[in-house]
Amino acid sequence: MRYGHFDDERREYVITRPDTPLPWINYLGSEAYFGIISNTAGGYSFYRDARLRRLTRYRYNNTPFDLGGRYLYLRDSISGDFWSPSWQPTRSELEDYECRHGMGYSAISSRHAGIEAETLYFVPVDENLEIWRTRVTNKRDAEAKLSLFSAIEFCLWDAWDDQTNFQRNFSTGQVEVEGSVIYHKTEYRERRDHFAYFACSEPLAGFDTQRDTFLGAYNGWDSPSAVKRGESFDSVAHGWAPCGSHHVELTLAPGESKEVIFVLGYWENAEEAKFDPPGSQTINKKLVKPVIDRYLRPEEAEGAFQRLRDYWSELLGILQVTTPDEHTNRMVNVWNAYQCMVTFNMSRSASFYESGIGRGMGFRDSNQDLLGFVHMVPERARERILDIAATQLPSGGAYHQYQPLTKRGNDAVGSGFNDDPAWLILGVAAYLKETGDISILDEEVTYDNEPGSESPLYEHLQRSLRYTLQRLGPHELPLIGRADWNDCLNLNCFSTTPGESFQTTENKEGGVAESVFIGGLFVLAAEELAQIAELRGHTDEAESYRADGAKMDAVVREHGWDGEWFRRAYDYYGDVIGSAQNEEGSIFIEPQGMCILAGIGLDDGKAEKALDSVASKLATEHGIVLQQPAFSHYYVNLGEISSYPPGYKENAGIFCHTNPWIMIAETIVGRGDAAFDYYRRINPSAREDISELHRCEPYVYPQMIAGKDAPSFGEAKNSWLSGTAAWNFVAASQWILGIRAEHGGLRIDPCLPKEWEGYEAERKFRGATYQIKVSKPAGVCKGVTRVVVNGEDVEGNLIAPQPAGAEVVVEVSIG
Ligand code: GLC
Ligand code: GLC
Repeated sequence: MRYGHFDDERREYVITRPDTPLPWINYLGSEAYFGIISNTAGGYSFYRDARLRRLTRYRYNNTPFDLGGRYLYLRDSISGDFWSPSWQPTRSELEDYECRHGMGYSAISSRHAGIEAETLYFVPVDENLEIWRTRVTNKRDAEAKLSLFSAIEFCLWDAWDDQTNFQRNFSTGQVEVEGSVIYHKTEYRERRDHFAYFACSEPLAGFDTQRDTFLGAYNGWDSPSAVKRGESFDSVAHGWAPCGSHHVELTLAPGESKEVIFVLGYWENAEEAKFDPPGSQTINKKLVKPVIDRYLRPEEAEGAFQRLRDYWSELLGILQVTTPDEHTNRMVNVWNAYQCMVTFNMSRSASFYESGIGRGMGFRDSNQDLLGFVHMVPERARERILDIAATQLPSGGAYHQYQPLTKRGNDAVGSGFNDDPAWLILGVAAYLKETGDISILDEEVTYDNEPGSESPLYEHLQRSLRYTLQRLGPHELPLIGRADWNDCLNLNCFSTTPGESFQTTENKEGGVAESVFIGGLFVLAAEELAQIAELRGHTDEAESYRADGAKMDAVVREHGWDGEWFRRAYDYYGDVIGSAQNEEGSIFIEPQGMCILAGIGLDDGKAEKALDSVASKLATEHGIVLQQPAFSHYYVNLGEISSYPPGYKENAGIFCHTNPWIMIAETIVGRGDAAFDYYRRINPSAREDISELHRCEPYVYPQMIAGKDAPSFGEAKNSWLSGTAAWNFVAASQWILGIRAEHGGLRIDPCLPKEWEGYEAERKFRGATYQIKVSKPAGVCKGVTRVVVNGEDVEGNLIAPQPAGAEVVVEVSIG
């Protein structure tokens, strides 16, 4: 069953009934001011940091789902009937309800009692504010007298404190109201230099800023007192819970429309210019007023919306494909690319599942996210790389997380996740391949943000590799430390205290537990660093990295191979994990993917064998589960992985992030049907028809789909913020379609389903535009036989970079 449909032309998902199985959300904002918005206008906004600069309040895990948002109410002044045009919070009967989630905007429209309302929500590029543009139309054949109310609840900035520290924050709330603008200025009187504002384009009949007056003490958002009686109270908040509500009266002739604009924004004043007049306690509004006035003008709001559309057209225009499969087309061209940009902006901070108060940016996560967005915003990828590298520790190790506002490593989570450093090499390699900008390698970057500790970025990469080499275990495999990619495989943790964090609790340091996964990752990273050394003309260094890689490759084949698949690890006692010898957890997905990506076992049949084992033991109709058999009870020597009930999360869930590794591995061994089949199983668009089961948004990947051991097999969770976005984009675009940036140019090496006869693509790369046409006979998957560039045959399938501005026509034949 579906709850809407894709509008591919407009790059929108159109939700046609409000009661989706879960709130289906979208993101607003692209640089600094962000928000999440659901299909019924739920959600919240923040400036830069979802915890420390939260503008509006949202209560997670609420009932009914998703209460708190950017609400509007309409009230018929004659009948007293009132409703929410976005369905929530009144949940009144609506006709023609539609929510269009687009690129950086959402539009919600509906009709009730002959009154149409459509609201467009978006954040203009380069501004720290959001616009709600509402159009109310009278479709009755008589005049309509209406009241329009807006409603938001302000958050007192620090979202954690806001939800916990009531003895203080029930006394701090302050606002100012001037004309049609409500200013929220809690703590501005003391150490903050910022405030929020909520403005309306129309003269007001009234306003409210005290939540409990607006709602009435025992009313919910579905029946605010002010709306029920049709008149605001003009309340001014002193402490308690500041809110923002405007009341606008509208009289509409039959057929008449009226546009009302609301602007919600964030503003900082210089320390010495906070107040006007100086010495008073009144906000200085001189600088913010012109900005507010500008976006309250319809033509400015429209212009800003057009700029936002252009911004996205440009980003998405960097890769556009036309294949025989609509699910591939819309994910690669629109939604997967969009999700990659969102994960770049949010990391893992704010979604319906990530409360915005918990985690910082992951060192590993951010480097992987980069793989998916580097082609769209290379300058911002550069900045991100330098920020991440500056938190690296002198040992080459890494803080597992860092804070976006301060850009410093997070001490509370600490380090010791031994895969982290290697991801920096992969992130930097992806940047170099896309841009050719080797100057980044000479950038002087600190360790642990310590001034004076700078070294060129290249040395950071060298230290990353050395970090692993200096931490080898009894089998010469890399020590796992706290965990490797799988945060929940905690082999040195031995936690028995309820509630203790598996990630931060003190570990036993046995120096024994090893990770085959890091072994594979190391081989991959060593080859990447060797290529980077070559770019710098250091062939001797390149050789030594390749030798390190070859040595690890041999170790993995010897101690990491189980006979039918790659093993997962050795535990604290030196016992094997992920082996036929284990009753539970005898085969894991991660080493099969990573070792083959690194090229281990391609020449001796191990790769195919491992992939066959994945197919027979791990693959399900809803995707590939993380391991089998699931852990039926808690294993103190394995940690968090066995804390989840079977089939969920890392305990044999379909952890979507890992599936593309197998897709890529299948393309490496040339099995295009298998690669594409796995791609289709978790492609959200291809799962649209089972939305009732899947439950999450059909336009973005979830982190997890419940595995076959779970009672809710096939049900997705944790949509949006996941490494799944980047890796699926990489798998589809670079390995299945096979358009891959390399240091030496653009490689075209597709591995397609047998039945396809080719596809077309446009790719912008280092300033030139490539029109690519791939043709093949049915029955073949892989093997480029001929490449013609601008009418001339070229040797091989790597196309050297073309001059900036060039239009390049590329014809590729397979088989
Ligand atoms: C989460 C984390 C990621 C980790 C994965 C597996 O997605 O963000 O860093 O690799 O879980 O544990
Ligand atoms: C939790 C999650 C896991 C995530 C980790 C990050 O353990 O279950 O997916 O990677 O936290 O800290």
